Amino acid sequence: MVQLTLPQNSRVRTGGRFPAPQGATRTRTFKVYRYDPESGDNPRWDTFEVDLDACGPMVLDALLHIKNTMDSTLTLRRSCREGVCGSCAMNIGGRNTLACTKGVDEVPGREVTISPLPHLPVIKDLVPDLSNFYKAYQSIEPYMKADAPPEKERLQSPQDREKIDGHYECILCACCSTSCPSYWWNSDKYLGPAALLQANRWIVDSRDGDTSHRLDALEDPFKLYRCHTIMNCAQVCPKGLNPAAAIAHIKKAMVERRG
Ligand code: SF4
Ligand code: SF4
Ligand code: FES
Repeated sequence: MVQLTLPQNSRVRTGGRFPAPQGATRTRTFKVYRYDPESGDNPRWDTFEVDLDACGPMVLDALLHIKNTMDSTLTLRRSCREGVCGSCAMNIGGRNTLACTKGVDEVPGREVTISPLPHLPVIKDLVPDLSNFYKAYQSIEPYMKADAPPEKERLQSPQDREKIDGHYECILCACCSTSCPSYWWNSDKYLGPAALLQANRWIVDSRDGDTSHRLDALEDPFKLYRCHTIMNCAQVCPKGLNPAAAIAHIKKAMVERRG
């Protein structure tokens, strides 16, 4: 009989408790995943009682309040704080989303549980290693390709321009790919919903001259066809995009070109 042993660091222990300051009347409990692989310690859940009257309304505001006033060692990524850079993507209340656009009062339950995007190696605390995610993005050659430099401006009809809607808005936050079970199990071979949405962004662009090669590159049992239309990607995308529909479009284009 096969005996499965979980890696040592998969056991998450209970960590420290940081109380709210005396006199705080409107508080909420934040349970935050902490892990420093270099320390040799197991991950832990730290609990912070946050005074909601002392910080802004978003989950990112609360995390920065924790970092600034309760524990400066908390590590997270963020930049724009308005949903355009994608760097504050994390798992909040069991769902991948952006900390800067998620209101604390939108998170159900007594505690607000926060952990890094799932199924990625953790660099520290809420910062995952996105190297493989970017490798998939790089592989789809995310730029316009043409045989020769154009002699004049590449014009596009309004109808053709509309085909890029639902693609260009992607901020590469990785919420979708790290919600996708197919990506969890085959992230070294399956490109995942974000990279495939971007692949389709160039396939549908009337100005790009490399559609045939782009489709050839995706004709592979893993890169594209591991999508089983589970739809987690479309449900979590914080920009309201539908990577599953883009993937379906690529599969249709594959069939159509076979005649
Ligand atoms: S499709 Fe949505 S969830 Fe996926 S990377 Fe782009 S913005 Fe993020
Ligand atoms: S629809 Fe495809 S890409 Fe989206 S979550 Fe499901 S398997 Fe993953
Ligand atoms: S900080 Fe840029 S998307 Fe949240």
